[in-house]
Amino acid sequence: MSESNSFPSDFLCGAATSAYQIEGSPLADGAGPSNWHQFCREGGRIAHDDNGDVACDHYRRYGDDVAIMAQLGLQAYRFSISWSRLLPEGRGRLNLKGLEFYRRLAECLAERGIQPFATLYHWDLPFALESEGGWANRDSAHWFADYAHTVFRSLGEYISHWATLNEPWVVVDAGYVQGVHPPGVSSPETAPRVAHNLLRGHALAVQAFRADGVGKIGLVVNLEPKYALSSDPADVAAMTRSHAYMNRQFLDPVLLGAYPDEMAEIYGASWPRFPDSELKLIQEPIDFLGVNYYSRSVVRDDPRGGLCAALPVVQHAAEHTAMGWEVFPEGLESALRWVKRRYGDIPIYVTENGAACDDPATCQGTIEDTQRIAYLRRHLIAVRDAMRAGVNLRGYFVWSLLDNFEWTYGYSKRFGIVHVDFVTQQRSLKASAKFYARVISSRGAALDN
Ligand code: FCB
Repeated sequence: MSESNSFPSDFLCGAATSAYQIEGSPLADGAGPSNWHQFCREGGRIAHDDNGDVACDHYRRYGDDVAIMAQLGLQAYRFSISWSRLLPEGRGRLNLKGLEFYRRLAECLAERGIQPFATLYHWDLPFALESEGGWANRDSAHWFADYAHTVFRSLGEYISHWATLNEPWVVVDAGYVQGVHPPGVSSPETAPRVAHNLLRGHALAVQAFRADGVGKIGLVVNLEPKYALSSDPADVAAMTRSHAYMNRQFLDPVLLGAYPDEMAEIYGASWPRFPDSELKLIQEPIDFLGVNYYSRSVVRDDPRGGLCAALPVVQHAAEHTAMGWEVFPEGLESALRWVKRRYGDIPIYVTENGAACDDPATCQGTIEDTQRIAYLRRHLIAVRDAMRAGVNLRGYFVWSLLDNFEWTYGYSKRFGIVHVDFVTQQRSLKASAKFYARVISSRGAALDN
């Protein structure tokens, strides 16, 4: 990139969402229930017992939402496909009406010249498969590859960029260690096998894509730089473990062919020996990497050991978003530079970045979400700096286009640059949406004024 303040002409600016968080109508037109649909019904799992039954009603309002994207000048849109809309039982019978929804969405995007980035798995597993053990079942890798194959065959001509999994670390840690996402268990014996099955599924899906897919395919991970609380060797070792657990657990096997040595330290006797043939499979080459970035964490040692051995420390003094996550834009640049140093010059998209804020009330027709604007400005500058430092960055997606169902937080956290009134479903552009539109139309120059 030149020293000018402009983004390169082929750099894409977009926004991201995911199926369960915005679509609503989870059982419409013959769709099957997902694990999240069921999890929300267990009671006590989600703030206010919220669920995705209506969400942003995007399933019926997608046309209006694409019009908003066009109004903002978005060049790309990252969304996910609901597996159980297409395959209500998770495998076998294809539900044509579910497929039709994504076809119409993709056509709508094409009409507006917006590039579609589709994620195959953003955490909503068909409940039928969860009932058979979900990702803990070794067959899950094949269920996923078969589903992927069906999607490539039926939607391939419409999609330019595919991602297999969104944030496999969260699937494992929130689902099988913390137990706060489905299936809601805390099982250090199961967690590493789940991680491995996710990666086997990812690689088999990439192979299916190579057989008859068009476009590009990648993997989306969440990265969070780790800093030690002190120079005490115990804290530094905790930081190293935490970094391996969160940032390297998935990238090392995919891009370097081996799990980090620290994994055995973290899981102790529960860490399995995986066959070399499977590690080789997982190294199936990908075309790009998606990086989701929100914050960093500061880590201290915890004498309890094992998975607790690297507890993040909340820095009360620092600036935070409404999630309690520290605002730390330097971390985005350093994460991107770290990827290049460790894994080479792979093309990267920042596939999620954004802030939940306690937005002020509408005042004379606008929502002045200045905290979000400041967050986006600083992180977009970090993106530009990373490009100047030689990182092969191809695009950036704001999380999120719309306020939506924020998993265990339900509707209590708002990440959108577009406000959604969940009673009337009315959409209103926040000031951050207008700011982002100016950034896009000025190719980044608006970041400096
Ligand atoms: C990421 C998820 C996304 C959203 C943001 C805030 O971990 O991929 O769905 O919840 O966090």
